[in-house]
Amino acid sequence: MAPKKGGLARSRQTQDVDPTLAKASVSIHFDQRLALFDVRGSQAHARMLGEVGLVSPEESQMMVEGLGLLSEKIDQGTFVWDPDLEDVHMNLEKALTDLIGPAGAKLHTARSRNDQVALDERLYLKSAVNQISWELWALKMALTQKALEVGDAPMPGYTHLQRAQPILVAHHLLAYYQALKRDSGRLYSLETRLNESPLGSGALAGTGLPIRADLVAKDLGFPELSANSLDAVASRDLLMEFLAFGAILMVNLSRLAEDLALWVTAEFGFADLPDSLTTSSSMMPQKKNPDGAELIRGKAGRAIGNLVTLLTVVKGLPMAYNRDLQEDKEPLFDTIDSLKLVLPLAKRLVESLTFNYDRLLELADDPYTGATDLADQLVRRGTPFREAHAQVGALVAELVKLKIPLRAVKPSLLARFCPAAEPDWPSKLTLAAQLAARDQTPGGTAPKTVAIQAQKAEAELLAEQKLRRF
Ligand code: ARG
Repeated sequence: MAPKKGGLARSRQTQDVDPTLAKASVSIHFDQRLALFDVRGSQAHARMLGEVGLVSPEESQMMVEGLGLLSEKIDQGTFVWDPDLEDVHMNLEKALTDLIGPAGAKLHTARSRNDQVALDERLYLKSAVNQISWELWALKMALTQKALEVGDAPMPGYTHLQRAQPILVAHHLLAYYQALKRDSGRLYSLETRLNESPLGSGALAGTGLPIRADLVAKDLGFPELSANSLDAVASRDLLMEFLAFGAILMVNLSRLAEDLALWVTAEFGFADLPDSLTTSSSMMPQKKNPDGAELIRGKAGRAIGNLVTLLTVVKGLPMAYNRDLQEDKEPLFDTIDSLKLVLPLAKRLVESLTFNYDRLLELADDPYTGATDLADQLVRRGTPFREAHAQVGALVAELVKLKIPLRAVKPSLLARFCPAAEPDWPSKLTLAAQLAARDQTPGGTAPKTVAIQAQKAEAELLAEQKLRRF
């Protein structure tokens, strides 16, 4: 009998699959990325089948070795994927059967593509988590080293993109370290949940054949087995978690990218990037564009889209597996690809950044940002804060009108607006004094506290490196 068209899993059907359905079913052009993990999972499964006696030791060995040969072909890029065989699982099973004969037809014993794909995805994700956590570590280290390199250099700090109070450049850089540290934390926490092997769950209900799912799990480095076979094949929340992690990380990176893009403008003039990390315009020869930063910012949009795609695909699906779930892979791969692109790029941008310290100093030494310090002094001398705020606000309005910096205010004028102020105190309102004063908050911008933040960040990174063996 001629085999029916439409893959291996066409058994009850009496007709060939309709071409429109066949075309929509194909996933091999993207799920071939799971191939090496599919092989590893199948090898573990084949070894277990041999150990429990569901196949003979010889058959088990033939399957394991045959799969090994297939993985070499995949590695070398010589494996030919056949879209008629729909997906990575059926391509590999067919290739194995072609290679070793009837023993290959026993590989799928006590297994469904539903638990197989769930397994492949976990293996794939574990490996991606490992690589991405390393790339993320390297970026955090670059930020920390930059913070140590810039020392006590000041810069204007902003809220609402309006100059607010002077801060240290290192403080600004370390703010991103903190955000990325939380991103790493999310990734490591997800890693613990990836530790359950779904293999053995079958299509949905488990199997009655005498398998040992624990052996497969151990072989593949999973400490646990899935506790519920329906959940094991139906859930994709671990992928969602990864995509949420990716979207949040990309949003954090997009803010860093936006800061870099602003800093290198002529208008800000805070920093420069080397030519190698900028591009030129196809029309305007004078341009030096921060495309790297912009691409990072742009890719955040895709990462958010990928999370929303998967949430939407899974929302409202009845228990257990549904074919909709095949749509989980492209968003996953896309976010992984983006992260692998942008993390090393962000690291290069950060480590290559050079600051224009003169300009930063000039702008940080704003004539009026000492206003909060003056209000604080009034508070120390007994004026209620709200009153102090109003008094200093009125004084600043007057000084702006007269074009007099706060530091140069005459004692008589000061006394008129702020009766409790020490007469010569504004003259002591140097930039250094404003910065040093912010030492009562451990996370504040005083050089003393920022130095502690930077040292702590470096120590955390070294500990992480040791723990993760980066
Ligand atoms: N390619 C499929 C997917 O990614 C594999 C599982 C197919 N299962 C099924 N019952 N048709 O979801």
